[in-house]
Amino acid sequence: MASILSQHLRRIVGSVDRPANLAKGYRNARIVSVCARKGGVGKTTTAVNLAAGFAMRGRSVLLVDVDAQGHCTTALAAELRGMASGSLSEVLLGRRRDVQEIAVRTTVPNLHLTVGDKALSEAEGVMAGKIGKEFLLRKCLKVARTHYDLIVIDCPPTLGNLTINALMASEWLLVPCDMSVLALEGVDDIFETVETLSDTLSHDLGILGVLRTRYDSRNKAVNECVEPALQTRYGRTLLDTRIPVNTRLAQAQAAGKPVGRFDDSCRGAVAYEALLDEVSGRLGW
Ligand SMILES: Nc1ncnc2c1ncn2[C@@H]1O[C@H](COP(=O)(O)OP(=O)(O)OP(=O)(O)O)[C@@H](O)[C@H]1O
Ligand SMILES: [Mg+2]
Repeated sequence: MASILSQHLRRIVGSVDRPANLAKGYRNARIVSVCARKGGVGKTTTAVNLAAGFAMRGRSVLLVDVDAQGHCTTALAAELRGMASGSLSEVLLGRRRDVQEIAVRTTVPNLHLTVGDKALSEAEGVMAGKIGKEFLLRKCLKVARTHYDLIVIDCPPTLGNLTINALMASEWLLVPCDMSVLALEGVDDIFETVETLSDTLSHDLGILGVLRTRYDSRNKAVNECVEPALQTRYGRTLLDTRIPVNTRLAQAQAAGKPVGRFDDSCRGAVAYEALLDEVSGRLGW
């Protein structure tokens, strides 16, 4: 009787707490963090269009939003399908086992995402008191990474513990940089952090590239000041693709769609397609 009861209880608890399928898949995702120290440089726009772009090219992709602002969800609002069965902060704080449990399907073929989670700000403080606080996200991606070809992580504009967790979970780093001196300083800060992670935690991140965003070729004076600095400081890591200032990108975000499904011929969409080609080359795809 006791064993029947406990089996029954396990089934009930299981149905509440455990997802239908936490079995491992057969893939081994590349994990890319999109990260910059400066706000508003196009991190989310890049993360969303990179993830959706590769998904539309047939790769299985998970977009993980570690920014409490939850802008990835806003940017894909028209594409969401289904409800999240939990939040990323629950996963990071050990109340759920794996990010795979909270991945939500979208109407973009092959694209899943974790929905925005305002509780992440609070969770960040709690995470700071945990043993292995830098490795929490990496641990929680163990199952998820076996289900995707690519995991893209959209980071907040701060270098707090959530960003450190994103970097420690990633093999690759993509750094959007708008054409301003302040953004340049932000790139330096990120690269210093990458060096610290290598020295202190032996984590060697591959630099996928520094991406020039919000590029306005008419803004000659600023470009002539920032371009040479970018070339000198970041040399080969500087991507050839430049994302132009293009209001269609902002409009796609407001419409809750990746730009490729909003207006695939606008200059922003064409530039993100070029970025996919360049990133594919660097990932060896
Ligand atoms: N290339 C672009 N041309 C025009 N508007 C853009 C471009 N890239 C981004 N934007 C717009 O600029 C705003 C900020 O972009 P985004 O949210 O991608 O930046 P972010 O770096 O993620 O910001 P945060 O630091 O707040 O997370 C958004 O309204 C977005 O639509
Ligand atoms: Mg953002």
